[in-house]
Amino acid sequence: MARTRLAYRCDQCGEATPKWQGQCPACGAWNSLGEEGVAVRPAPVPGRATPVRELGAVALDEEPRLTTGLAEFDRVLGGGLVPGSVILIGGEPGIGKSTLALQSAAAMAGQLPVLYATGEESLAQVGLRARRLGLSGAPLALVAETSVEQIVAACLGRGTRVLVVDSIQTMASDQSGSAPGSVSQLREATARLVAFAKQSATAVIVIGHVTREGTIAGPRVLEHLVDTVLYFESDLGSRYRLVRAVKNRFGAANEIGVFAMGEQGLREVRNPSAIFLSRHEEPVPGSVVLVTREGSRPLLVELQALVDESRAQQPRRVAVGFDNNRLALLLAVLHRHAGLALGAHDVFINVVGGVSIAETAADLAVLLAVASSVDGRPLPVDAIAFGELGLGGELRPIPFGEERLREAAKHGFRRAIVPRANVPKKAIPDLAVAGAATIADALALAWPERRG
Ligand code: TYD
Ligand code: MG
Repeated sequence: MARTRLAYRCDQCGEATPKWQGQCPACGAWNSLGEEGVAVRPAPVPGRATPVRELGAVALDEEPRLTTGLAEFDRVLGGGLVPGSVILIGGEPGIGKSTLALQSAAAMAGQLPVLYATGEESLAQVGLRARRLGLSGAPLALVAETSVEQIVAACLGRGTRVLVVDSIQTMASDQSGSAPGSVSQLREATARLVAFAKQSATAVIVIGHVTREGTIAGPRVLEHLVDTVLYFESDLGSRYRLVRAVKNRFGAANEIGVFAMGEQGLREVRNPSAIFLSRHEEPVPGSVVLVTREGSRPLLVELQALVDESRAQQPRRVAVGFDNNRLALLLAVLHRHAGLALGAHDVFINVVGGVSIAETAADLAVLLAVASSVDGRPLPVDAIAFGELGLGGELRPIPFGEERLREAAKHGFRRAIVPRANVPKKAIPDLAVAGAATIADALALAWPERRG
């Protein structure tokens, strides 16, 4: 039998301490430590060891995946839902988490028993949404409940194969004495659902809210408990929704699914590579189109830079959708290796469409956008760029260069500036590819008249 001893856990950051203190030693919050029962594993009994197997003798019969009815959702999951796995879907309120969960739950309910547990909305509200989505006819079971034990009991009684829990912030485990919504409560409720998923081979989809600031008491503290973590990314103004796998035990991390929110809920976007592109009629200074790769697909995005004389003591470097530190590094390279000094200028970078770019392939496009804004000289509207920059000012090749160039050509782009090593051996029809060895080369290729 497991023994229980008392410990304390911070409801802000989740830190556990054996002794009560007024202030959390980890995050510094006051009066945030609450009592918590911690199950202590019993010492192993000699002679009753857990069976150990040879690698070759492990049974590999994989259960077939369940398809969610939305190809883009299947794609981020790595090919559908794995029975017995737990998927966390995070995102800001109103972004479409419940809509996605309800649509796929209704689609799956035709084939298997699915239960949608709502702790946030009433059954009538879920019913209304289902009607708006044209899903009223689906044989989907609903329960309005906030106790995980009750939800698990309801699943066991019905032979449920897929469970949706909307949202984890509203759930409580009877075994936890902490306040609903606190970190201990979130973790215990999730741990209970994970145990249920593994024991019963039920796929469990857990919805969690994240705020723009990424609250501490949010889904982040749950990431290590679950198998797959998906986050919604989007500009609130845009109708497109990106769902990114940030962790996936059953598929590639960083894969994305693309949806458009419309009257009929979320619709999958099958060929999303150009959705974030706003085509300009006239060339615009400071704007450069980049071919990035999201998951396993090329994506064309517009990068914008605005460089302005600074009035502040410390000039500002602000990047939205791009890493601020990387921007500072790139500006130093631009100064040192291309002679463009921006020490007295504010530099703003924006990735259009609310996409975040983590790839170093964006380096060259960022600096071309900066240089273009400084001089007020645009690149042609039919030009794209990509490439990684080294601290020596050298341009390094990036993976999948040819695939990116072909995608750009497919969308009507006619010129490209890329690292020399990314120039394809065989020409790409209708695309003039210029290879640059250094950042100075690239600037000279973009604006031949600017030399010097
Ligand atoms: P929702 O799924 O409720 O968001 P979350 O669960 O992440 O909080 O999405 C609600 C938003 O989506 C809301 O602003 C209305 C919009 N929406 C549509 O545009 N079309 C639809 O068919 C539905 C159901 C919602
Ligand atoms: Mg919701």
